[in-house]
Amino acid sequence: MNHSKISGTGSYVPEMIVTNEDFTKYIETSDEWISSRTGIKERRYAGDVSTLDMAYHASLEAIASAGIDQSLIDLVIVATVSADNVFPGVSQMLQAKLGLDPVMAFDINAACSGFIYAMNIADKMIQSGAYKHALVVGAEALTRWTDFSDRNTCVLFGDAAGAMIISKSDEAGLIDVISKAQGDVDDLLICKNPSPKTLVNHQAEIQDFIQMDGRNVFKFATKVLVATVNELLERNNITLDDIDYIVCHQANERIIDKASRDLDFPMDKMYLNISRYGNTSAASVPLAIDEAIKENIIKVGDTFMTIAFGGGLTWAGALVKY
Ligand code: UT7
Repeated sequence: MNHSKISGTGSYVPEMIVTNEDFTKYIETSDEWISSRTGIKERRYAGDVSTLDMAYHASLEAIASAGIDQSLIDLVIVATVSADNVFPGVSQMLQAKLGLDPVMAFDINAACSGFIYAMNIADKMIQSGAYKHALVVGAEALTRWTDFSDRNTCVLFGDAAGAMIISKSDEAGLIDVISKAQGDVDDLLICKNPSPKTLVNHQAEIQDFIQMDGRNVFKFATKVLVATVNELLERNNITLDDIDYIVCHQANERIIDKASRDLDFPMDKMYLNISRYGNTSAASVPLAIDEAIKENIIKVGDTFMTIAFGGGLTWAGALVKY
């Protein structure tokens, strides 16, 4: 049977740093509220940097880290809900910008769970025997879809990209991947995007930007995070003693802290970088995994889980041997 494994990782964060203090100039908030309720201290804004450019820089790092000739890449998947265009997709522009051969390249939209969805797709396409080296990217410029008059959401998001090369392997690196969705009929977390109506008006309207019922999304997130960890344990007949590390989507430090207590899994084995980047949606998981590897927290031979949840509503988890 064909398996897949992570053979390289990379990430990119834009230079512009926005601190909690910066928000106090135009909304009623404080560093104390933001850091104690979310764990966020600062985040990065893309400004003029395109989603494509963030994806490109992260991909260059991932390709270098995999140590493969980029001509071997035969599949490109970009998880994003903040592509530069409706079409072409970030993935197709990325194929061209990297100078890859004309390979299959497509974007997927599963919000903050998008990167693990993309890992799942790459894994199954490699298992089929048809593909050998997938470039999988999570890239987001969600601050372009943020209502900066809404203190409930505007302090949360940041921009970034993370990338991974997932390659064919004799041994299972991606041991198991779960991806799920349950349509958000109550609009708990929604970004409508400009409609033709909006374009006629030549400006987006407030309801087109990100809107979130934070309290209910928090409850959903903690529930599915714990359930997905337990499902991966049960499906693979293992216990948390077999897991060296858990890398969660960085939406709120309190969500990760609650999951750590509910699972009785130590917080110092739950990777955290939310203080520096905020919630970067589909970029959050690959950015966190890449940093954990660079910091030598995740080492070759370690077994870790990565879990994400978000708009859709979607959630996903992967059990990985690095
Ligand atoms: O990545 C996708 C998944 N997203 C998530 O998982 C996010 C899940 N939700 C959360 O992380 C949290 O619900 C938030 C961080 C969004 C909000 O934290 P909370 O502890 O749930 O606060 P809350 O919504 O219950 O609001 C408490 C109070 C409210 O004031 P009142 O109504 O009690 O007077 C808010 O208006 O805090 C107020 N508030 C703020 N105050 C200062 C909300 N945002 C702010 C702010 N600064 N930025």
